[in-house]
Amino acid sequence: LQTLPRWKTEVAVIGAGIAGLYTALQASEHTDVVLISKRGLDDSNTRWAQGGIAAVTAKSDSPALHRQDTLIAGAGLCSYEAVEVLVHEGPERLKELIAYGTEFDKDAQGRYELTKEGAHSKRRILHAHGDATGAEIVRALSARVREQKNITVLENHFAIDLLTQDGECVGVIVMKPDGERFFLEAKATVLATGGAGQLYRYTTNPEIATADGIALAYRAGARIKDVEFIQFHPTALYYPGAPRFLISEAVRGEGAILRNTSGERFMEKYHPQKELAPRDIVARAIVSEMERTNAAYVYLDITHESEELIKHRFPTIYQFCLKYGLDMVTDWIPVAPACHYIMGGVQTDLNGETSTKRLFACGEVSCTGVHGANRLASNSLSEAVVFGHRIVKRIRELPPAPEVRPVEARAENRVHRFVNTREQRVKLQKLMLRHVGVKRQEKGLRKALEELERMQRFYAYEHEEMEAFEFLNLLNAAVLTTRAALLREESRGGHYRNDFPNKDDLIWRKHIIQTIDQGVH
Ligand code: SIN
Repeated sequence: LQTLPRWKTEVAVIGAGIAGLYTALQASEHTDVVLISKRGLDDSNTRWAQGGIAAVTAKSDSPALHRQDTLIAGAGLCSYEAVEVLVHEGPERLKELIAYGTEFDKDAQGRYELTKEGAHSKRRILHAHGDATGAEIVRALSARVREQKNITVLENHFAIDLLTQDGECVGVIVMKPDGERFFLEAKATVLATGGAGQLYRYTTNPEIATADGIALAYRAGARIKDVEFIQFHPTALYYPGAPRFLISEAVRGEGAILRNTSGERFMEKYHPQKELAPRDIVARAIVSEMERTNAAYVYLDITHESEELIKHRFPTIYQFCLKYGLDMVTDWIPVAPACHYIMGGVQTDLNGETSTKRLFACGEVSCTGVHGANRLASNSLSEAVVFGHRIVKRIRELPPAPEVRPVEARAENRVHRFVNTREQRVKLQKLMLRHVGVKRQEKGLRKALEELERMQRFYAYEHEEMEAFEFLNLLNAAVLTTRAALLREESRGGHYRNDFPNKDDLIWRKHIIQTIDQGVH
């Protein structure tokens, strides 16, 4: 064993999507911050967000309506208090994003343009450059972060593990681009590591969404909540040779309809809100139609809208489809569901603090209680800023950090040199898609869990490169998701069981929490 080199900061933020950038900026107004990003500042899930950010700004809208829509989508498992916080504080935080330089789209009269997505009762979603909202937010916030003297940005640095001492998080072990490791000691550590889309073979998320924060927090002893609830976005592009590119729900919000491969509109058979029903319902309806027609996709049709509207509202999507010879103005776009968002994550209180003291979680990695069993579209960007703000407030109240004992690292490397991590990742993703996807059942879940646990025993010591750490994190999260999905013998929100197709409020209106010490409870 050797002692690791050490560096000290007040606040360590891990992750550089909206949650990490915004929390770092807010914290830097009071103290010094180290922001760790495993790639560059422009590489995050936020970067790809299209639809927009949901917050009440119109006179015809109200926090009560936003609350109601969020609670209905969440299918009985939202925290009422967390939703209250979101809908009341969202509009203030939106103003801060604008003050930080984010430019949302306005109409000819200078009013913010508002769009609609599934299960929203009002137009309340702000967007930027039509369908490039996330990219605009990242542009504005990362420029600010780079200007801030008290933020040290460590790009291409990887957070390997959190360090706890007497039940408190005291910092994080970080790997530099050259593989050297050091211990970053911090009074507070904020996980803003984003989502887990790479758990599945087909996802709208980028390569980096490898569930790192869930795995780090779990190994550090924090409570992991509701991870069986996975949101599949109904409409990701399905075309030979093309990635599963997100086709925003806002396209349906602006009037697009879904047709099966026989050309029939089908959503009215499944829900009165048709194409704008809650996301889990639309995704399952599409899968049922795909099964019924023996096809791998359905079509999204917006050809009845004007060319001007399509090109103005969806320039990114339009251009992307065109690269593959698909013209949204005249062609139906082939789409299929793909993993998009994990509702569960690291359990937090209303101040973003986890069950491990001095450890916070913000954004998709967290489970604040806002999303319940199914997230309302475009609530995630608002959640990140609302709770990021609260986290910074709470950090300012923390007592001074404890004295941290020397941190030792394993010097030896027990690496399975012949393992191809990339191949193993694909194996995991296929297993998850097949057995822990849109529709699940006991036999498949058991099979997946057995195989994942076997993989976990075998690869437990494969610790060397970032890809290997990412794979282990995915494996960790895959086991937690599958275990919870097997346990929850009902269907609700983003968790559907063929063998238990109904919601069971009597037994299952409750959460599944997992910890490394106590297992499932
Ligand atoms: C979309 O544009 O459809 C995605 C919005 C979201 O997931 O919140």
